Amino acid sequence: MAAGERAVIVLAAGRGTRMKSRLPKVLHPLAGRPLIGHVLAAVDSLAPAETVVVIGKEMDDVVAAVAPRPTAVQDPPLGTAHAAQAALSELSGGAADVFVVFGDTPLLSPETLRRMAVARETRPAPTVVVLGFEPADPAAYGRLVLAADGSLERIVEFRDASEAERAISLCNSGVMLIDGARLADLLARVGNDNAKGEYYLTDIVALARADGLGCAVVTADDPDEVLGINSRAELAGAEAILQRRLRARAMEEGATLTAPETVFFSHDTRLGQDVTVGPHVVFGPGVTVGDGVEIRGFCHFQEAEIAAGAVVGPYARLRPGARIGEGAQIGNFVEVKNAVFEAGAKASHLSYVGDARVGAGANIGAGTITCNYDGFLKSHTDIGAGAFIGSNSSLVAPVRIGDGALIAAGSAIGADVPTDALAITRAEQKNLDGAAARFRDRKRAEKAAKAAKTKEK
Ligand code: UD1
Ligand code: CA
Repeated sequence: MAAGERAVIVLAAGRGTRMKSRLPKVLHPLAGRPLIGHVLAAVDSLAPAETVVVIGKEMDDVVAAVAPRPTAVQDPPLGTAHAAQAALSELSGGAADVFVVFGDTPLLSPETLRRMAVARETRPAPTVVVLGFEPADPAAYGRLVLAADGSLERIVEFRDASEAERAISLCNSGVMLIDGARLADLLARVGNDNAKGEYYLTDIVALARADGLGCAVVTADDPDEVLGINSRAELAGAEAILQRRLRARAMEEGATLTAPETVFFSHDTRLGQDVTVGPHVVFGPGVTVGDGVEIRGFCHFQEAEIAAGAVVGPYARLRPGARIGEGAQIGNFVEVKNAVFEAGAKASHLSYVGDARVGAGANIGAGTITCNYDGFLKSHTDIGAGAFIGSNSSLVAPVRIGDGALIAAGSAIGADVPTDALAITRAEQKNLDGAAARFRDRKRAEKAAKAAKTKEK
């Protein structure tokens, strides 16, 4: 690594037992991506030369989630300083600055990390910059003890703190920025003579001060930013905060949300300008919406693209690989999966369109189903431009419907239909004159006879 560059250590060795989950805590999703994904995105914005994630034993799923970043296994976990030390073996050394962040604080903002970096550049440069915050309830957080000049003197863990220290409202978020040249030496000197018998990363502050080095605090503007997730309730709380931010951002960027509090975004949802989103819409990961799109209420989308001017919903479901073209219309109770609707194509009611192409301007009648799966394999349905698929048709894939072809309502189509042809597969209609009236007369008589018999008994 070139001199002057920055490294990041992400601590995530804790399993998060309070989540009561088989999934490691940092893999629980928030706005469509794992907690640790949010943390990595925040630190990536500083373009670090290296990032190492410290994990516990048997966390192969975390290794996969953070790849290609290296991981270091800390086993057993003996505290945050011990965890940071485990990371050193995976770092090439020589970083000017090393950030230590926790894998379970997903709302950390790039802006705050930048403010810490700026604090490290003041002269004389502080050896450790700690991110502090003032929570409404300081509870069991570590407390930041300041010197008379406002610099940081030491951090005391709640369990080891005196009454006077517990009265301090400025708390340790856990995020630190440390002089890379001193980190290994400071960590090596941390002991475990404390209430928990753990190696506390927080002790490096007092160690640096004892060496005559300076330490500083940067305070987070918003205490929500350093919210650590330890339970499902806290996960839901963080989701609520993040959704509020995502809704505010969508509106700031030019979308109309009729009932913002009922719309759920993914961290990566992209909306064009003048998009209107009705009530109760859920955006899963990977959704892109073009300019002027109208999304009516009660829709669910995931890994889908909606081009400019399309109208979708109410009650539409777009599954992975749905691509809705310009000005296309997807109406109520229509499900689209891995299918392209070209410009101006329509499916207005009650359809399943999967593994298909619907050509420009084609119309899919109510109740049309692409029968794409035979229990073993998925097959493709190709519908030409301007084709008209009559209501309640089954298109048994693989099958091609030519441009401008017309499928009669209620047909089951298993063979290709040529351009401009009309295909019909339903049984021929017979009309039996007077048969309905004769049927009713017979049934009325049968019913009357039965009633008379019951009365005799
Ligand atoms: C830590 C801080 C405390 C701060 C609080 C903020 C220390 C000693 N204390 O306390 O001052 O107010 O965070 O939330 O640092 N981890 C490992 N290996 C370990 C221990 C922890 O990787 O051996 C990881 C955890 O997975 C977690 C993070 O480090 O991501 C914090 O650990 P946790 O045990 O939650 O620390 P706290 O006791 O909350
Ligand atoms: Ca914690």
